[in-house]
Amino acid sequence: MPKRDVYTHGHQPAVVDQHARRTAERCAAFVRGIISPDFQILDVGCGPASITVGLGKWVPEGTVTGIDIGGDIVEVARSAVEASGLSNVTVEHASVYELPYKDDSFDIVYAHQVMQHLTDPVSALKEMARVARVGGYVAVRDADYYTMSCSPESEMIDEWRRIYCLVARRNGAEPDAGRHLLGWCHQAGLQDVHISASAWSYWTEEDRENWGFSWAERCLTTSFAEQALEYGYATRAELEEIAKGWRAWAKNPSGYFHFINGEALAHVE
Ligand SMILES: C[S@@+](CC[C@H](N)C(=O)[O-])C[C@H]1O[C@@H](n2cnc3c(N)ncnc32)[C@H](O)[C@@H]1O
Repeated sequence: MPKRDVYTHGHQPAVVDQHARRTAERCAAFVRGIISPDFQILDVGCGPASITVGLGKWVPEGTVTGIDIGGDIVEVARSAVEASGLSNVTVEHASVYELPYKDDSFDIVYAHQVMQHLTDPVSALKEMARVARVGGYVAVRDADYYTMSCSPESEMIDEWRRIYCLVARRNGAEPDAGRHLLGWCHQAGLQDVHISASAWSYWTEEDRENWGFSWAERCLTTSFAEQALEYGYATRAELEEIAKGWRAWAKNPSGYFHFINGEALAHVE
């Protein structure tokens, strides 16, 4: 296994529970139209595999392989696959920089919210293209943290975003990845690329409370919090104030939050 990048979020429960709410319908809509029921799909950085399982339902005659570099999260992902009852989905421990597959193995090599955590997304995209078959696709979707904003405006949530971006960049990663996907694909030698963008918004009581309370927790109990303290970007007291800001926003029935995700669908030639 090659040297790991630092994963800014960590795999603590507050992170994993939040990610496990994601669905293929919401997160892979930009590839839905090109998927045939017999496709072989690789889901890179699959995390808790809620999207992976959804992809598995879209390819009843095909397969989905999820991979992740985190050992613990691979076990969580395998449990989710087992609970789904799907027999065409498997999860393996691997790094995107060194995929344990032959050239031309998959119809789609997909990664959701992964490029933003890598120190070398271009090498990752090259490796993803290597294992995609000629005529297949590399598909990536990532947030652009710069676009994250809320109503009512919150000084503490702005401060959270500022500190998060400092920590991610100190880790050598790019939190505004969504806007860079086209350039990174070109640098990786992928020239036939279609770009789209789609927004996430949190405003229903359930979504707002989940997003706000989970970020409050993540500011206190996860790798992001540890790194913010270790790198000297925040004190414990400041993180507690930010967590309070998140909770206040989450409890406001008019609370609204949104951001843009960039989406790149690259045809492998
Ligand atoms: C933000 S999570 C996204 C999880 C999932 N794709 C989703 O959207 O719910 C990013 C995942 O990428 C994984 N990851 C980070 N670096 C990786 C690498 N070099 N190779 C494979 N996975 C990696 C992390 O362990 C983490 O589970």
